[in-house]
Amino acid sequence: MSNPYVPVIARIERIIEETPDVKTFHLVTAAGKPFAPRPGQLAMLSLLPVGEGMFSVSGQGEAHLEFAIKKVGQLTTALHEAEVGQAVGIRGPYGNGFPVEELQGKDLVFIGGGIGLAPLRSLINYCLAHRPDYGELLIIYGARTPADLVFKEELFRHWPQAPGTAVHVTVDAGDAGWQGPVGLVPALLEQLNPRPQGKVAITCGPPVMIKFVLQALERMGYRDDQVITTLERRMKCGLGKCGRCNLGSKYVCLDGPVFTLGQLKALPAEY
Ligand code: FES
Repeated sequence: MSNPYVPVIARIERIIEETPDVKTFHLVTAAGKPFAPRPGQLAMLSLLPVGEGMFSVSGQGEAHLEFAIKKVGQLTTALHEAEVGQAVGIRGPYGNGFPVEELQGKDLVFIGGGIGLAPLRSLINYCLAHRPDYGELLIIYGARTPADLVFKEELFRHWPQAPGTAVHVTVDAGDAGWQGPVGLVPALLEQLNPRPQGKVAITCGPPVMIKFVLQALERMGYRDDQVITTLERRMKCGLGKCGRCNLGSKYVCLDGPVFTLGQLKALPAEY
């Protein structure tokens, strides 16, 4: 049996500067894509001699995987300093990912904040690539400032032009060039007030945003099984070995990180 701790060696093929502290890395191996993750799955990336960390797959092409990574610590700072051609270890995929089959036929409301749009992006693009299988897509996204918005090409060009897709973007604080809404994501969600009938809401972002988004969805009449979120921030080893992700009897890495609100409510309130 192969050792699950041994990474495949990939190389950075392309780097996209999303914001001052977020870059998207396209990784390829000599054999092309190291694996084909489901939307919402993660991978362990390692950079010698700095270390390794778990990151959400934000997208994929025929022969590469994409990771949008925020500079927050040693490893991510080292990744931000890396250049095209740099070797990066990769292993995975980890986690259950979004239930793409169960979502078929539903209207989907995506609610994201900051870098939390990364896993949602992979699901949004999956739905657009399988357009007939899904209903209307409503995308609500926010960041601190216009400069902090990630995936701007998709937010402002590709997604709004896609059939049956609406995009609403807000910022906590605008700047001289910003003409869109200013305010928090949960407030924009309540203002848009998408009716719960036939819908599933999928949210990912900072914990405080998720908390208020879940409360807003509840007020708007969404049942617990109509709300999905991902606890990917708790993923560490991804293998059920380190014991750092458990919530009561569940391991986020083995049972999640994608859960319905109903599943989360059955767990200790630590999420
Ligand atoms: S992430 Fe290590 S046990 Fe789940």
